[in-house]
Amino acid sequence: MKVLVTGGAGYIGTHTLLELLGCGHDVLVVDNYSNSSPIALQRVRKLAGRDFESLQIDIRDTEQLTEAMLEFQPQAVIHFAGLKAVGESVEQPLRYYSNNVDGSISLLLAMDKAAGHNFIFSSSATVYGAPQYLPYDEKHPVKAVNPYGSSKLMVEEILGDWCKSAPGTAAISLRYFNPVGAHTSGEIGEDPQGIPNNLMPCIAQTAVGRLPQLKVFGSDYDKRDGTGERDYIHVMDLARAHVAALDYLEQCNSFDAINIGTGKGLTVLELVKTFEQSSQQVIPLELVERRAGDLVSVYADASKASRLLNWSAELDVDAMCRDTWRWQSQNPQGYSGE
Ligand code: NAD
Ligand code: UFG
Repeated sequence: MKVLVTGGAGYIGTHTLLELLGCGHDVLVVDNYSNSSPIALQRVRKLAGRDFESLQIDIRDTEQLTEAMLEFQPQAVIHFAGLKAVGESVEQPLRYYSNNVDGSISLLLAMDKAAGHNFIFSSSATVYGAPQYLPYDEKHPVKAVNPYGSSKLMVEEILGDWCKSAPGTAAISLRYFNPVGAHTSGEIGEDPQGIPNNLMPCIAQTAVGRLPQLKVFGSDYDKRDGTGERDYIHVMDLARAHVAALDYLEQCNSFDAINIGTGKGLTVLELVKTFEQSSQQVIPLELVERRAGDLVSVYADASKASRLLNWSAELDVDAMCRDTWRWQSQNPQGYSGE
């Protein structure tokens, strides 16, 4: 299949590109490199042993996008491009709505012009808000609690309406839980700019000496060891889920949302302990106050993905930690170290 990948130079995009290329798909990457580096794409080309085109385009530039689409004629679009920092979205809501919502509309307009009708969207478990029950299944009510989450929900609604408006269009929203890990080569991985927000990059940067210690946000939650629980999913499993969703699009002619997680919750301290074992590094840590807005527990009911996509997570937490460490220890400064 010919697949246009927006945000392909980013963390999840690069890993998915490798899976797509490995399965024989042809790709065109569109990225403005606002949170990534073209070096990441060079590494994907090297690992895949195949070349592909990449264009520096902001997805809000409908004209340029349309031109690229008319030329490439993709049979499907995978839409990763977006801003993703929750705290930043609270401080700069308009920037988030412009990038994530206007950007998605611009992409759909370009697809309409190029008669594209198959779409996969990067959504997030954050669309569920505080749990009314656990695990979250796709029927759980949705409620955004910050502009980032609102932007994801708005795009899901737009995709639903887009699918209703034209027969033959299909869109799948993959609601990711907590992606972590890296490709086993250690050549590509997560490379956050500035001080990371998420747990795994903080652990990895502490292990490599870029951060002095890990701050554990809250140790008095009503959980087995008092720390927050999440459903961590290996980024290569997540990448495979996109390939499975591409296959499923062929039989799907409407909008659908599907959780992508392992179904298992892990606490902060459990993840740190596994990382220490896999990396043979000690992670100095400090137990501090809870982080505002954090939930105690987040984990998926991933049975819909298994039923519809014939996909389930295969890689365990040891692999998540081992592969993160390989990437971080081989690239202590991320791609900017090259
Ligand atoms: P990332 O920042 O590494 O990748 C996003 C890519 O999109 C970057 O390469 C960036 O340069 C590009 N981009 C951003 N705005 C753009 C624009 N206007 N035009 C063109 N390119 C643009 O993030 P990621 O972790 O790979 O996440 C990919 C998607 O998955 C995002 O939409 C994110 O919201 C979603 N998601 C991520 C997580 C996570 O924890 N990583 C969880 C749930 C959902
Ligand atoms: N945590 C720490 N110390 C840190 C960072 C995080 O203790 O330095 C804890 C958090 O308090 C939480 C857990 O580690 O208990 C996971 O936190 P992350 O920031 O890694 O992930 P979140 O679950 O808070 O959020 C992530 C993405 C969101 C997305 C959400 C979906 O950042 O964009 O998953 O579930 F919406």
